[in-house]
Amino acid sequence: MTRFKKNILLGCIFIFLFIANVNSKGVLPIVPAVQKMEIQDGSLILGNEISVSINSTTLEGEFLLLQQYFKEDFGMAIKKEVRDGRIRLILTSNSKQTLGEYNLDVKDSYIRIVSSSQEGIFYGIQTLRQLVEKKGNKIIIPRVTIKDYPMYSWRAFMLDEARSFKGKEVVFNLLDEMARLKMNVFHWHLTDDQGWRIEIKKYPNLIKVASKRDSTQIGGYKGEYFDGKPHEGFYTHNDIKEIVAYAAQRHISIVPEIEMPGHESAAIAAYPWLGVTGQQIKVPCRFGVQYEVLNITSPRVFTFIEDVLDEILQLFPSSVIHIGGDEVKYDYWKNSPVVQSYMKNNGIKTFADLQILFTNKISYLLASKGRRMMGWNDIMGDKIHEYNLEYDTMVNQNLAKGTIVHFWKGNIDLIKKAVENGYDIVNSYHYMTYLDYNDIKLPLDKAYNFSPIPKGLPKRFNHKIIGLGCQMWGEEIMSDEKMYRMIFPRIAAYAEVGWTLPKNKDYEKFLEALKNLNLKWRTRFKNVSIR
Ligand code: ACM
Repeated sequence: MTRFKKNILLGCIFIFLFIANVNSKGVLPIVPAVQKMEIQDGSLILGNEISVSINSTTLEGEFLLLQQYFKEDFGMAIKKEVRDGRIRLILTSNSKQTLGEYNLDVKDSYIRIVSSSQEGIFYGIQTLRQLVEKKGNKIIIPRVTIKDYPMYSWRAFMLDEARSFKGKEVVFNLLDEMARLKMNVFHWHLTDDQGWRIEIKKYPNLIKVASKRDSTQIGGYKGEYFDGKPHEGFYTHNDIKEIVAYAAQRHISIVPEIEMPGHESAAIAAYPWLGVTGQQIKVPCRFGVQYEVLNITSPRVFTFIEDVLDEILQLFPSSVIHIGGDEVKYDYWKNSPVVQSYMKNNGIKTFADLQILFTNKISYLLASKGRRMMGWNDIMGDKIHEYNLEYDTMVNQNLAKGTIVHFWKGNIDLIKKAVENGYDIVNSYHYMTYLDYNDIKLPLDKAYNFSPIPKGLPKRFNHKIIGLGCQMWGEEIMSDEKMYRMIFPRIAAYAEVGWTLPKNKDYEKFLEALKNLNLKWRTRFKNVSIR
């Protein structure tokens, strides 16, 4: 080949790469990676005011978000066209599609996003946002055909505001970023020993007392010092309604977690009769598993739970309600004559059984109202905590059918046992998914390589693993900057674990695609992204 021809060829390749926004790995940068993509030659260039058509009024919300995204991301205006817009959102009735599946075609003169669900259209819009490149007052979109759908139906991010109250604006930011990454469950840890963060109208002390503490341990549960500053905050019913609606627009379901029967010190500080000892305590400033547990043998305590859940169910339309259930220290029940005599009178042999019977009562209560209960895997009664080792945890009771077991701790065989018994699993194994672990303990590649389906699980149970969660616990994130640094960019790795089939994942390509997102996060969250 002559040098002249070679130069022309290189020039063409360069122009193609430039126009098509193909990155140096030869793929289009999308996180989470799509299942199937065919890149064609050339690209579509759109100018100032872009027309969008929808084929159903059901898509009005998606249209409005698309309009907002194009304004924010690219400074471009979008107007509605009755038909044949440059961007066409098309809802079909294809019952064979999985929820969230969509096709996106960038043609010579228009873009088509087709799906049988609003979720699918919304995810197509998220993909489109990442395909667009702004050049001057134009945007350039590579010609491409995409077929995409999620691997798991449960792609969750958890925020613990009991330890560290953040407030509405932070929650909106996080919901925006979850939406960008096609995550669909915001697991909201709203109550714990160190704080109760949601108004319950029937029990005003949960706000007056339980939403405040005097001080906070510095540096997590191993820290020696306290900051001496009061920490407080809570969400009113109106706040919750606003946040639930904001999430729903983005196809994110909010699953509230109301801890019981452990991690209840804040509530017990507000109403001492909830606890086993009945003594007045303060809302703990120290982290770790603290103080008291609920006296679950008391009818008054059960009424309290019913009342709280009543308001929770009115506020959260989610089909699943998380009741925590983790880290109950059995000492309190052992040392309580009331609990001991209750167990004797009811033939309950172990504390594990006592907890399962309680948990099942809650599960039936929720089921009677059309909801499903979820709890950390402690609810199965297995020995997973050193502080309960001395107890006979022989389990004679089974969890109620339909319970979702949220796996976080213990031997992976416990997952096997749970699915063999018919329970669905969300996998949040702590070594692999806890965002409060630093970047050395849990680096990005480790997060990326997490498999919610554990090795060795017989294939016939794969469908019982409905997804994963990643958890931003609140002990060490009193500053928002630190929190954002811990969440980003690892949340993107979990988004890809949840969305993309393992055969379509590629860490190098993921890192390439992440560059664009990191630019956005650095700008949005004041330079806090770690890459
Ligand atoms: C947990 O980390 N206690 C679920």
